[in-house]
Amino acid sequence: MRIPEREIEELRQMVDIVDLISRYVTLTKKGNNYFGLCPFHKEKTSSFSVNQDKQIFHCFGCGVGGNIYTFIMKKENLSFVEAVNFIADLYGYTLTQDETDSAEQIKRQEDQKQLVEIHREAARFFYRALKENIRLPLVTEFIRNRKITPEIIKNFGLGYADEKWNSLVDFLCTMGYNNYLLKESGLLSYNQEKDHFYDRFRNRIMFPIMDHRNRVVGFGGRILDDGSPKYLNSPETSIYNKRNILYGLNQSKKVLSQTTPLILVEGYMDLIALHTNGFYNGAAVLGTALTENHARLIKRYTNKVILSLDSDNAGQMATLRAIDVLRKQGISVRVADLKEDKDPDEFLKHKGVEAFKKVLLVAKNDLDFRVSVIKQDLDMDNLDDKMEFVNQVVPILSAIENSVYQKEYIKKIAAENQIDEQALMKE
Ligand code: UTP
Ligand code: MN
Repeated sequence: MRIPEREIEELRQMVDIVDLISRYVTLTKKGNNYFGLCPFHKEKTSSFSVNQDKQIFHCFGCGVGGNIYTFIMKKENLSFVEAVNFIADLYGYTLTQDETDSAEQIKRQEDQKQLVEIHREAARFFYRALKENIRLPLVTEFIRNRKITPEIIKNFGLGYADEKWNSLVDFLCTMGYNNYLLKESGLLSYNQEKDHFYDRFRNRIMFPIMDHRNRVVGFGGRILDDGSPKYLNSPETSIYNKRNILYGLNQSKKVLSQTTPLILVEGYMDLIALHTNGFYNGAAVLGTALTENHARLIKRYTNKVILSLDSDNAGQMATLRAIDVLRKQGISVRVADLKEDKDPDEFLKHKGVEAFKKVLLVAKNDLDFRVSVIKQDLDMDNLDDKMEFVNQVVPILSAIENSVYQKEYIKKIAAENQIDEQALMKE
């Protein structure tokens, strides 16, 4: 039985080696690596190391090393194919095993490589353009308004797409890429009638979207005047799927840990504002609801999240959904209250760093947040409203798994809302 190369690679990218090895070895983070006692030879000091960036392990004591597959082969005494199946089972990944690597699949892989290369070149192109055009009034104004420093520009590879229709087209065409790849990249638009390409992103500040391996796989572009759409994003391609990517996670993963939570925000500029103000543990969902894949990705780095989405109604709905998705992965969730500011970017602009620190510190846990959402439209002095509150809060209370916590929480809710504790308990 053969497993297609593509599947092996996809599984390898989905599974985090630190997560996998943690099931066998207690690992502690030191600098960029994780260390523990080698499971392959007897030792008293930790010489077994795991590198999360490279997704490999190595023992300085006995010299063994490799990737997730080599680890499981050795540890579980399995053949390669068995190890792939073992890991797939462990992570609930379905392998398609009936097809071999066809010429078509090999070509698909080659295309993806080229698409990544095209994106890297485009990112460099936009970056250079930003340097060259930094004095244009609209550009200067944006940079000043948003307090974007040269350091931020460099760290995020921010760029500029000018107003012309053919700047990127001309650049990419001289590089000799195939037309069908340029079409597939989503960076250019194509006019069928005239059979020619034109620039999709114009008059925009460009945000390269990087995956957790630091490959540019897409772009978001913010319009510089009041045109629309405000943000234009890359379409879904074979290398970009917004359901799998969190903006900024490639940077924040370096500072996240089981004690450092991820601050989850809604937009490019919110994430950048976090960095400008010294909060390096953020990531942004890009124009989509938080998905199960996002939650799994987060769990590789931390199991604590502080949600700081937009404070409007839509943001509140998105927060409630995100709580469910994150809790399902066993991630603990708190919710930041931005009060009258619409998003973290504006909050930081108006209230500053210290105020935001405080917001994070007093962020409500997910239960308290859900209860407060139920309460916000109810008048608790009105008996009917109070009954409505009880009806809505009971399912939340009964879903609490730990019975000690459940009891205490019911006590708290009863006291805070002048409800009889025994009666609430009965419900
Ligand atoms: P917002 O409309 O809340 O914008 O969109 P923002 O982040 O506050 O933007 P600024 O501060 O005016 O620059 C939040 C996110 O939703 C997506 C983008 O990812 C954006 O960052 N979005 C928004 C789009 O994809 N397209 C749009 O037209 C608008
Ligand atoms: Mn904003």
